Amino acid sequence: MDGKQKALLCSGVKGTYAVELIDIPQPGPGEVLVELRAVGLNPMDWMMHDFGMFVPSWPAIFGYDGAGVVAKVGEGVTKFGVGDKVMHAGTFEAPRVSTFRQYVAMKADFVAAVPHNLSLDEAATLPLVLATAALGMYDAPRAPHGGIGLTPVWEAGGRGACAGAPIFINAGSTAVGQLMIQFAKLSGFAPIITTASPHNTALLLSLGATHVLDRHSPFSALASSVRGITDKPIMHALDAISTPESQNGTYDLVAPGGRVLIDTRCAIAPEKRATGGKEVAQVFGDVQRAGESACGRALYAHLTGLFEGGDLKPGRVEVVPGGLAGVPDALERLKNGVSALKLVVRPQETP
Ligand SMILES: NC(=O)c1ccc[n+]([C@@H]2O[C@H](COP(=O)([O-])OP(=O)(O)OC[C@H]3O[C@@H](n4cnc5c(N)ncnc54)[C@H](OP(=O)(O)O)[C@@H]3O)[C@@H](O)[C@H]2O)c1
Repeated sequence: MDGKQKALLCSGVKGTYAVELIDIPQPGPGEVLVELRAVGLNPMDWMMHDFGMFVPSWPAIFGYDGAGVVAKVGEGVTKFGVGDKVMHAGTFEAPRVSTFRQYVAMKADFVAAVPHNLSLDEAATLPLVLATAALGMYDAPRAPHGGIGLTPVWEAGGRGACAGAPIFINAGSTAVGQLMIQFAKLSGFAPIITTASPHNTALLLSLGATHVLDRHSPFSALASSVRGITDKPIMHALDAISTPESQNGTYDLVAPGGRVLIDTRCAIAPEKRATGGKEVAQVFGDVQRAGESACGRALYAHLTGLFEGGDLKPGRVEVVPGGLAGVPDALERLKNGVSALKLVVRPQETP
């Protein structure tokens, strides 16, 4: 693995894609070189293409999630050996890491062993959405990005810490929402009220939701359905999709003094926030960011066990053909909307 690898480069905002040869990096101290066997696609990937968000220079390589095998270990790495199956997120921190490529050098602290009950394809769908759900729920409140500060389920006292409290999770069938539901169950919330298209009801009930409301209902109707399910005030609400409409609707549903988690730029009306008396946290799912890295490290230390113990499950996966060359069409599909589905490419199958 000295030499060149294939990578998918994008020429500019709304630009063209091309598979090109670039250097394979060498793992530095504390890093592992991962041969990427599976890469999960995220909405952020097409947003980087369409809007240039988070792109410092062009041509650019997108891709945030990866799973594969360790090809080399850098100095001082004892946690992993060559041939181990591992999973990891990318990062916007320096040194920046993206995954629409065949090899990547990653800091070993932010790499986890692939749980034995997950395929590499399944593992590759998890890093970003898992970080978003976990940091959003369990990291400390912090500006500009942070969480709502629940006790992490991997810490003593975290499991069941919220027993008896209701939670509202908007957009439960998103990949982020599916993990939020599972974490909410581990935290002890009940009832766990979520929204989705009706065909996803059985899936979300199997993950721990107690009530699934039709996401196409207006928020005024959702609020009245929630009141019919529990007469306790909703002090915690997570908006997994965070459109401007859903952020405002979710904010309204929470009782004064409650906490709202969003995962895109805040679009809650400023006058509402000024008088609402509710805390709003905006999560940024990068486990390597300076503020988030303590919670991120802890998540990575417990990630493998959470899946192997059956506490968390991955979602539905479809592998698209063509390796990295299959990414552009797959991103169009993602942009047009998938339902409770993660798309995966296999970089080693790139023609
Ligand atoms: N802050 C961060 O670091 C971060 C990280 C990752 C993602 N995000 C954001 O989180 C959101 C979800 O990402 P994802 O990857 O989990 O998405 P995803 O899995 O690709 O989302 C697909 C799902 O979205 C649901 N959906 C679409 N529009 C909806 C609406 N208006 N209301 C409720 N549900 C809706 C669909 O539900 P049905 O099929 O049931 O209708 C579908 O199952 C995106 O906005 C993304 O940009 C933020």
